[in-house]
Amino acid sequence: MAKPQIQAVHPSLFGALKAQPQDPLLALMAEFRTDKREAKIDLGVGMYRDATGITPVMRAVKVAERILLETQTTKGYMGPEGDPIFVELLKPLVFGAAMAKSDRIVGLQTPGGTGALRLGAELIAAVSPRANVWLGEPTWPNHRPLLAAARLGVEGFKHFDKTSQTLLFDETIGALTRAAPGDVVLLQACCHNPTGADYTMDQWRTIAEMLAARGLIPFFDFAYQGLGDGLDADAAGMRLVLEHVDEALIGYASDKNFGVYRERVGALYVVSNNARAVYSQAMALARANWSMPSDHGAAVVRLVLQSPELTRDWTAELDMMRARILSNRGRLAALNPRLASVARQRGMFSQIQIAPEAVARLKDEHGIYMVGSGRINVAGFRDDGEIERFAKAVASVQGDA
Ligand code: LMR
Repeated sequence: MAKPQIQAVHPSLFGALKAQPQDPLLALMAEFRTDKREAKIDLGVGMYRDATGITPVMRAVKVAERILLETQTTKGYMGPEGDPIFVELLKPLVFGAAMAKSDRIVGLQTPGGTGALRLGAELIAAVSPRANVWLGEPTWPNHRPLLAAARLGVEGFKHFDKTSQTLLFDETIGALTRAAPGDVVLLQACCHNPTGADYTMDQWRTIAEMLAARGLIPFFDFAYQGLGDGLDADAAGMRLVLEHVDEALIGYASDKNFGVYRERVGALYVVSNNARAVYSQAMALARANWSMPSDHGAAVVRLVLQSPELTRDWTAELDMMRARILSNRGRLAALNPRLASVARQRGMFSQIQIAPEAVARLKDEHGIYMVGSGRINVAGFRDDGEIERFAKAVASVQGDA
């Protein structure tokens, strides 16, 4: 049969497109999966694992899922704001009971903490396209692409020295001094990814005073509440800052502290004196992005937080997870003096002092997978000698690195 005569008179849309390099963390996850070695250790992606190496579905989450299965009567649409009861119930956890009552705070459910950050970034870009976002580095490698995708300018500054394993607080102060009024400062509320090095309360106070004095807007990435020192302790620095400033954004993730990673459960909260208008803008942006967030994970978190009994069980299990992370930190520090700083750091991550070549050797010679920057997932060790094996392997590759 004769082919129809179609002439390509237009340039190809995708013809000149170059393949993107794979995201290093996602590539590492894929490489680990295909590694056939029995004794491999995964310290890559940030997920809590128990002593047997499993990322468990938390007990309260399982119960809530059963309740949901039995009682949910419809899968009809919600709205761009997602589940408003989930957003309300989360508020006291995030802000503390008193501050949570403020009518200056509005919130929307988002697809994970990443969705919250992206929505917050787009909101900033919509109202202040020339605002720069100041970003202490090293940071979560997705922060820059995410902010750039919202067309915001990014000003990086060094806030952590890997060699001495210390916060470079003077550099933070320097950045806050250079930033122009109306600029935004992205701050991780706790359990810093990737360093595990959090500000002290004195440092948070200094930051709060500088933000207020210089008219800078804090944008919190709050992804690991409860995995550092406790639910309230992990929010204390952020809450102190919020007492000092008129406006702030908080990108919150429930994915990690409820262990519902793949469900993508998050919320964006905005503090402002023009809260209703901000809410309607955020709703419009959410509608244009994903129309409505998916429901299951947030519904499960809501059910847990609606039940005092399930909430108690959830916090007990979270306490246990945190205790395991802290215990792993202590054990690593005791086994290898060059890992001593790990005990001072908090949350799922530390960025240890190790050269990229040594990281590569750990993978090739020992089957130990960690991010090239030196980040380890402290919760990634199974309790069958993996910590000891890791500490020994690090010592052996560091010895001649
Ligand atoms: C991580 O840093 O490992 C997690 O936040 C997962 C991710 O999406 O990068």
